[in-house]
Amino acid sequence: MADKPARSQKNFGKLDRDGFIHRSWIKGTGLPDHVFDGRPVIGICNTWSELVTCQFHLRDLAEYVKRGVWEAGGVPIEFPAMSLPETQMRPTAMLFRNLLAMEVEESIRANPIDGVVLLGGCDKTTPGQLMGAASVDLPTMVVSSGPMLNGKFQGRDIGSGTDVWRFSEAVRAGEMTLADFMGAEAGMSRSHGTCNTMGTASTMASLIEALGVSLPNNAALPGVDARRKTLAHMTGNRIVELVKQDVRLSQILTREAFENAILMHAAIGGSTNAVVHLLALAGRVGVELSLEDFDRLGRETPLLVNLMPSGRYLMEDFCYAGGCPAVMRELSGVFRREALTVSGFTQGQIADAAEVWNRDVIGSIEAPIGPSSGVWVLRGNLCPDGAILKPSAATPDLLTHRGRAVVFENIEDYKARIDDPDLDVDATSILVLKGCGPKGYPGMPEVGNMALPRKLLQAGVRDMVRISDARMSGTAYGTVILHVSPEAEAGGPLALVRSGDEIAFDGPGRSLELLVSDAELASRRQTWEAARAPSTFTRGWYKLYIDTVLQADRGADLDFLVGKSSADVTRESH
Ligand code: FES
Repeated sequence: MADKPARSQKNFGKLDRDGFIHRSWIKGTGLPDHVFDGRPVIGICNTWSELVTCQFHLRDLAEYVKRGVWEAGGVPIEFPAMSLPETQMRPTAMLFRNLLAMEVEESIRANPIDGVVLLGGCDKTTPGQLMGAASVDLPTMVVSSGPMLNGKFQGRDIGSGTDVWRFSEAVRAGEMTLADFMGAEAGMSRSHGTCNTMGTASTMASLIEALGVSLPNNAALPGVDARRKTLAHMTGNRIVELVKQDVRLSQILTREAFENAILMHAAIGGSTNAVVHLLALAGRVGVELSLEDFDRLGRETPLLVNLMPSGRYLMEDFCYAGGCPAVMRELSGVFRREALTVSGFTQGQIADAAEVWNRDVIGSIEAPIGPSSGVWVLRGNLCPDGAILKPSAATPDLLTHRGRAVVFENIEDYKARIDDPDLDVDATSILVLKGCGPKGYPGMPEVGNMALPRKLLQAGVRDMVRISDARMSGTAYGTVILHVSPEAEAGGPLALVRSGDEIAFDGPGRSLELLVSDAELASRRQTWEAARAPSTFTRGWYKLYIDTVLQADRGADLDFLVGKSSADVTRESH
């Protein structure tokens, strides 16, 4: 930076009509003359909103980033980006992850910003913001929302999402009253912050640390902890240095950084959603990453973190036990220690400075919490481009299973029939749900952990093999095969499955086979194609998304967003 003018000087450094316009209309916010002298301008990209507790406090947190930026000699300028409240958006927040990524990319590119701090936390905001920033490739850091405090209900800890699924199944099975169910609502989310389980938000915040794009402890410090404000302040300090040293995101997001993220993902028993997000992010920065990398690297580490849904504790406990740096310390034998982070330290240096404070929460390689818990990547004639399963959230006895399909053509069909007492289903059946992939729903919602038939729940059944082209919540559990690619709507073999077909699932062998002859499948395909109706989504974002979205094995990014745009825009607006 010392020997090259700041990017923002293209707007603010000109002593002509253009410079007048750029400066005058921002001086109206109260900025004095001297801040336009070439010092780093730091964009604070804020997904604050009141629509969900996860990002409710980000306006406040942004003030601490600003303090740090001012202190280090930069100029902080906050701007908004689409908030993606996971629990509110219809049909699913995932439909809008790529829209957020486009908004962030173009907001950074179009504006006089030298570096950027991304403030987000709810599931899709973290990957959406980082994908957009990666395509511009300026110096970038992340400050996550931080998790909620532990949920409390009837004298015990309850976890976001995970206990919703548990309680709702208990109500359906007649084991919990509706009054108790409703009573758990307020106790589950009792502070601002993201879900307090190792769901998608906490997983992505942990992977942010493993990727090296935040300061240490970004993932686990609770949203209400004063130390998160300190972390925001220190991030403000540090981003100014990164701009001065011109350390761009692409220097951090290397192949080694992604390998560290996958190792961390396995060690924490992370959300299956991280697979699509990391694949999409790798596509933005041009790092070769495949589904098989998750399966292969995941085997290098056992489950080290005892958090719901794979274990019993919550993010607050994880924080007090040492958080991600402590996990990295345990992973030292396999972690890519030389990987650089935005802190200026390598991952190895961060790990060496960490301690584990509670062995119930963070295990060791010698005494892990559980066996390897990375995702399994399945192949077979039912999923030629792959499908995934989280073994740590599954029932061990079901990890090899052969059963008869009970097929639901779409989510409406599922909801209409799942509790029908006459549904032809038993505990050995395999539930198959179609039409829930990126194009089909659209947006690939978290419905893959579909609830079991009421009559089986009442008979004591608590898990069955379920297969779909959907995702599932990172807080969910069960023997759930997800992300079947290609999806049914794109003409994948999933579209051809019929009730009564036999399906063979061999988890350890990584295979998923539909036991129907090729000739029969070819005949079914002709019938399926003849019955296709034109899409009802003919305008706006939905149409652009459906027309261009890639399948889950490629991260469900839009095909024309893969790669970088660069930070250079040469034309003026006037
Ligand atoms: Fe926002 Fe879970 S709903 S993190």
